[in-house]
Amino acid sequence: GAAELGPYRHYMQKEIFEQPRAIADTLDGITRIVPALFGPEAAQVFRQIDSVLILACGTSYYSGCTAKYWLESIARIPTQVEVASEYRYRDSVPNPRQLIVTISQSGETADTLAALRHAQSLGHPHTLTICNVTTSAMVRECALAYITRAGVEIGVASTKAFTTQLAGLFLLTLVLAQTQGRLSAEQEAAHLQAMRHLPVALQAVLALEPQLIGWAEDFARMENALFLGRGLHYPIALEGALKLKEISYIHAEAYPAGELKHGPLALVTSAMPVVTVAPNDALLEKLKSNMQEVRARGGVLYVLADADTRIESSEGIHVIRMPEHYGALSPLLHVVPLQLLAYHTACARGTDVDKPRNLAKSVTVE
Ligand code: G6P
Repeated sequence: GAAELGPYRHYMQKEIFEQPRAIADTLDGITRIVPALFGPEAAQVFRQIDSVLILACGTSYYSGCTAKYWLESIARIPTQVEVASEYRYRDSVPNPRQLIVTISQSGETADTLAALRHAQSLGHPHTLTICNVTTSAMVRECALAYITRAGVEIGVASTKAFTTQLAGLFLLTLVLAQTQGRLSAEQEAAHLQAMRHLPVALQAVLALEPQLIGWAEDFARMENALFLGRGLHYPIALEGALKLKEISYIHAEAYPAGELKHGPLALVTSAMPVVTVAPNDALLEKLKSNMQEVRARGGVLYVLADADTRIESSEGIHVIRMPEHYGALSPLLHVVPLQLLAYHTACARGTDVDKPRNLAKSVTVE
């Protein structure tokens, strides 16, 4: 009811602003990186695995796509990510030493549950879920679990469930890195420190809301949008595009920035805004040249620049600077402005933000 919404107009907005609390709760009490965070049998299971297969749907799939970058770069574990409805119906080559990781807010998504059961029927003994509902079928049926503490999520478009999944997946990465002997005490301390600071860092990003309301006024008049990212932030671009299409009904798609010239550049005009997630990492220089390609075709850029980048707003380039550079955990921060952009664009278009047409919060039938 209205009382529960407090100062917010919709549950989605309330849930976006709950993220500092949701992340704090999800990471509460974690002072050491230990396998037991995932269950009493986790240490023994983690010693046996040689790779990871992540299965999920929707926004949860995109958190899995982000985790692949972490698992391969930090834990050095070969990782695959697959949409649950694809995996369950194709012939795959099972590897019993692979850790099956399902990711689900509800723990009841039909395709993700069926994919889990399919993996088990192929002889996969090692299963783990990152899930927001303790009593769900997913938690009951997986050997290991990490429960996110996002709290009840009402908006159909997932927000706080996504960032808390990322927190759980980052923990999994650190535990697996440790099992592989790839996490020094100094690295462990530095990562724990960065995780503890996340709620404060998120709060600073939420304070960018007025600037995103400004961007949303432009987007509300568009029928198409392109999102570009690279590396860790490519899945964030995918999630930003998904949010925009789900609730504002604007056609949006995401590309890894390097693919721009292999197709989507043909679509770029002044009617196709291009959102660029531009963290200051090793690929920044390449990303800058992608942005020049867009400008040269009359495209208008909306850049989420990292704190220490020198990109400035100019004709056709709108820059919002992130408050803080955040290394490996940067995806948790960069997704928040994209959530706010989708939210305020939908509000400007007057759509039913919390219950977008044709979509359901939890898809429990195929
Ligand atoms: C639906 C929801 C999405 C969600 C997806 C997976 O499509 O609208 O927000 O990401 O299901 O749901 P799950 O509960 O498995 O994370």
